[in-house]
Amino acid sequence: MSEPGSPLVVVIGSVNIDHVVVADAFPSPGQTVLGRTARITLGGKGANQAVAAASGGVRTAMIARVGDDVEADKARAGLVAEGVDVHAVTTVPGAETGTAWITVAAGDNTIIVVSGANHQWPSEGDPTDGAGAEAAVVLAQLEIPLDVVQRAAAACRGRFLLNAAPAAELPDELISRCDVLIVNEHEQAAVSGQPDAESAKEPAAVRKAHAALRARGAKAVVTTLGEAGAIITDTDGTSTELPAVPAAVVDTTGAGDAFTGVFAARLAAGDSLLAAARLGIAAGSLAVRVPGARHHHADLDTLRAIASTMGKD
Ligand code: RIB
Repeated sequence: MSEPGSPLVVVIGSVNIDHVVVADAFPSPGQTVLGRTARITLGGKGANQAVAAASGGVRTAMIARVGDDVEADKARAGLVAEGVDVHAVTTVPGAETGTAWITVAAGDNTIIVVSGANHQWPSEGDPTDGAGAEAAVVLAQLEIPLDVVQRAAAACRGRFLLNAAPAAELPDELISRCDVLIVNEHEQAAVSGQPDAESAKEPAAVRKAHAALRARGAKAVVTTLGEAGAIITDTDGTSTELPAVPAAVVDTTGAGDAFTGVFAARLAAGDSLLAAARLGIAAGSLAVRVPGARHHHADLDTLRAIASTMGKD
């Protein structure tokens, strides 16, 4: 849980209600398959990352847009229960809270997001309403409009972290504002123009992409690689491969969010990039063991105990 008086992480991003179907296999286009279970849970990359950041032991505030529906009340309550400040989770009159439509199968997932209120923001001004100037870290993703992310980056006086998810091409101006750019292999390929995500996972390809992104102005870059761990290129250009923590995978949804939120929290708390990434990997390894996007419920001591099993670089 977040500690009173601790550094502040501001997460600006999406709040969704996740509609999840678990099946044995993904349907092909035109095919019908039978699912095993269906459930409705709390999600949104922004909200998931805020919950993870709060579990990393820092004050965490969420800036988001939700609909004027009962789903918004549930989403707010879910954040408050995990210690996230929701004063800047704003209702958009007449809008619906964002939804995500998720299929979990074969150890992987597919997600379609219907943005709803997540894409309804004022067209100008500081979307953090001053919080970006107070925060040690401002963390954003790409489930809200790009111009809102850019204005949040401009308002940030601490470190600005961008999780470039879902995958998109990014303007150099935004990349150059990133103290840390966090991507998986798909997002790395999209951001750096690599032809395909499978070859983008190779360590040499990751290093090459990191060098290119640093040349465009990102100060540090992290690529999360699932069962292959993560590669971190620090502000001095040094790249380090960190291993994954072995885990029996139930549902990978939200594992990247668990990594990113805890990573942001620990950077805000003063940890090094590598120490923060180790704790992020520990959080990701817990997230894949349970269904849903955010129910790993780890405290910092648990994360540290798991990270200590990873060995040194
Ligand atoms: O990263 C997982 C999240 O992506 C889900 O919770 C869903 O809401 C989508 O935003």
